[in-house]
Amino acid sequence: MSELLLLNGPNLGILGRREPEIYGTATLADIEKSVAAEVAPRNWRVVPVQRESEGELIHAIQDHHDSVGAIVNPGALMIAGWSLRDALAAYPRPWMEVHLSNVWAREAFRHESVLAPLAAGVIVGLGALGYVLAARALLEVVPD
Ligand code: DQA
Repeated sequence: MSELLLLNGPNLGILGRREPEIYGTATLADIEKSVAAEVAPRNWRVVPVQRESEGELIHAIQDHHDSVGAIVNPGALMIAGWSLRDALAAYPRPWMEVHLSNVWAREAFRHESVLAPLAAGVIVGLGALGYVLAARALLEVVPD
């Protein structure tokens, strides 16, 4: 069965109770479930990984080079996660960057992502729906 990597960075494991006015009330488990439902008809299995540290996220990427694609919410590592960027540069499959909040409507330090230039697409500001739309986009761009 093909695997889709669903990678979430620091502070995303507490979604649902983390600043819900910004990030919404869906938990990470809810999000993982809805992404899994979206890709199930294609026979893709979601591999959910959430880590607080950059090194562990890098290990997850390296361990899943054979996945069909990835959805990545790097959290604040978008700002200066240079090692994560290098890991994604070496990742051989298309991946989508997702942010629940509209980072450009927020503080200036969130306005740049060092990862985004490598992504197949970027979705921001749509909350948990963004992950489902990223999954849908990967279903389109990844050939059978
Ligand atoms: C986030 C936006 C980041 O700026 C922030 O550091 C996060 C969450 C989002 O999903 O909106 O941790 O990636």
